[in-house]
Amino acid sequence: MKKLSKDTLVVHGIKTVYTSTMDLVPPIHMTSTFKFKDAEFGSNIFKGTEKGFIYSRMGNPTVSLFQEKMALLEGGEDAIATASGMSAIAAIAMTLARPGDNLVAGTTLYGGTFALFKKHLPLLNIQPRFLTPSEACPISNIEAKIDKNTRFLFIETPANPTLDIFDIKTWVTAAKKYNIALIVDNTFATPYLQNPISLGADMVVHSATKYIGGHGDIVGGVVIGSCKMMALIREEYTNHFGPAMSPFNAWLFLRGLKTLALRMKRHSDSAMKIAQWLESHPKVDRVYYPGLTSHPGNRVAQHQMKKFGGMLAFDLFGGIDAGKKLMDNLKICTLAVSLGDCDTLIQHPASMTHSTYSAEEKKKAGISDGLIRLSVGIEDVDDLIDDLNEGLSFI
Ligand SMILES: Cc1ncc(COP(=O)(O)O)c(C=O)c1O
Repeated sequence: MKKLSKDTLVVHGIKTVYTSTMDLVPPIHMTSTFKFKDAEFGSNIFKGTEKGFIYSRMGNPTVSLFQEKMALLEGGEDAIATASGMSAIAAIAMTLARPGDNLVAGTTLYGGTFALFKKHLPLLNIQPRFLTPSEACPISNIEAKIDKNTRFLFIETPANPTLDIFDIKTWVTAAKKYNIALIVDNTFATPYLQNPISLGADMVVHSATKYIGGHGDIVGGVVIGSCKMMALIREEYTNHFGPAMSPFNAWLFLRGLKTLALRMKRHSDSAMKIAQWLESHPKVDRVYYPGLTSHPGNRVAQHQMKKFGGMLAFDLFGGIDAGKKLMDNLKICTLAVSLGDCDTLIQHPASMTHSTYSAEEKKKAGISDGLIRLSVGIEDVDDLIDDLNEGLSFI
């Protein structure tokens, strides 16, 4: 059979049937523990000589279905679903690095990831080294940050909140040369728009809270990679630190995935139209959207992404005072953090999602004081433009 398109895979994609009633939509296995048919079987699954579920912190059929589908969509062998995106990132870092080790990451990251790398890992004597996209070119600059204690490379692309684009292939080349893992946070792009594993990345991580769920009602995360890596993360971290995804959330994530293709096309097309409109608005100083030819990462984004996603950011000439007036005078766009929902969300990274960066760190990461981030929803795009236009008239 010919290779199925992503549009088909998001709807189908998993073949496992767990019930004799042949449900179209798999039921939720809302159970903390599982009965063993006899004591011998119980001890065998603990030993790993027989397969079966033990306890939902370590595995659950509904969570397994979500993992299976994410692995399929990202082109990985296996996946681990976690309670949040942050716990997925922590699981990777805590599995791969030990005291004395270091990691090399892009400077622009979600504020929680930056805080984990910059504040918490150093408490365990694991040090981060950062590079902006322009510093990461040529590749020798990435290599200059790598030494014998570097355990992994980590990039977000497009990056939160400036939509910086990192060239995945360049980072893959550096990772392979030094035999270390490259992890890509694919939250903004989703497996529908970008597949880092097919470009050679070792692992992909998501805040599933965002586009995977897609409706702003659940928190979760997922890591995708080889069976060997996933077994290691389970053994070293998730089984014992316990950031398990609830089966109910896994069921909702599976439901969200069915419309991922439709949503990502709509988010991307609307974001492109809004970015172009904002770019020509007299009160807008600069627009950050990888689909615009004015974006420094546009050429690389064209190679590694199918479309450019639903996230954009902009600076107003009036700085943060103007930004506050805009955010306080919108009727459809909602003032809230998070992203990837059906609803359009607007927020101020410097004081909200990225307040974990110091003033100097923000400057280095290109997060200006007035930067406004917009997560474009699936409403009618002209209604969104009218709302933004009305909000801008208050400045
Ligand atoms: C790119 C990115 N990665 C990771 C996270 C963390 O995910 P969660 O909030 O699900 O823990 C976020 C959250 O905003 C994010 O934007």
